[in-house]
Amino acid sequence: MATNTWTRHHVLSLADFTTDEYNTVLQTAASFSEVLSRRTKKVPTLQGQVVANLFFESSTRTRSSFELAAKRLSADTLNFTAATSSLTKGETILDTAKTYLALGTDMMVIRHREAGVPQAIAAEMDRLGVRVGVLNAGDGQHEHPSQALLDLFTICTLLNPQQPQVELLQGKKIAIVGDILHSRVARSNIWSLTASGAEVHLAAPPTLLPQMFADFGTDRLGNTFLHWQIEPALQNADFVMTLRLQKERMTQYLLPSLREYHQLFGITRDRLQLCKPNVKVLHPGPANRGVEISSDLMDDPQFSLIQAQVTSGVAVRMALLYLMGSGV
Ligand code: NCD
Repeated sequence: MATNTWTRHHVLSLADFTTDEYNTVLQTAASFSEVLSRRTKKVPTLQGQVVANLFFESSTRTRSSFELAAKRLSADTLNFTAATSSLTKGETILDTAKTYLALGTDMMVIRHREAGVPQAIAAEMDRLGVRVGVLNAGDGQHEHPSQALLDLFTICTLLNPQQPQVELLQGKKIAIVGDILHSRVARSNIWSLTASGAEVHLAAPPTLLPQMFADFGTDRLGNTFLHWQIEPALQNADFVMTLRLQKERMTQYLLPSLREYHQLFGITRDRLQLCKPNVKVLHPGPANRGVEISSDLMDDPQFSLIQAQVTSGVAVRMALLYLMGSGV
């Protein structure tokens, strides 16, 4: 497996990921994907190591796929749930992390509703001089690197199953539609897709797509374009990524109604006619059926990559845990 270019001990953001690093993740994930297709789906790579999933915020697929990824690598896993932890007795997040350190944890996978928590824990581990890798599994509205990497893997393996690599995305048009303002998935994807040379077209009502997004991805290989109507974003798109309306993060009334939002920005089979004929649709999940995407489209195997994204998540997270374990 290609690890020679890998030096990262923590994976906190994609803002400074290099093309080599993206390709190393893609190639390593492709090898693990092959392992997962075998009868015996397990390798001894992380035997004896402890991976702790510290999820301070709800999750279904990210948490389960990190747990499965760690188990497929033969690591021991610890699962922490905020609601039933000593946090409810007043323990701080850093003290929780240090407790897991004292238990012998080698890698921490962290999700928190505030931006910056995984970075703070990584800084504390470095300050303590311990070799514990920290992986950001979603921090507030900031970043969700492993989600963007699994999206990249899903797209690149579709374009070339044998050799997924970022160069396949050069000149491809990718529309990201929905609640971009609140989306850490969109932010991480903008980094990875523009670094790959794709054209990224963002579309949302102005309340969910502020002008500041124009600055993302400048001075990269690809470009970012902003649209406050959906049609120009979908026109000739190769891939459409639709995002959940994150009602739990909305502090003001940003939309007149869900029905109007669906009429103006919902992804439907009809709307896909504007795109390339073999367009594919992604959604990180969880989805609001009938709001950002029509229910029939979600389940349509001709267009939907949603299940494939979940499956990719295990191989990509195995790759990340493996690479972080091997980094200097
Ligand atoms: C996303 C998240 O939590 O950021 N989901 C995920 O990890 N698959 C997106 C969302 O919550 O809408």
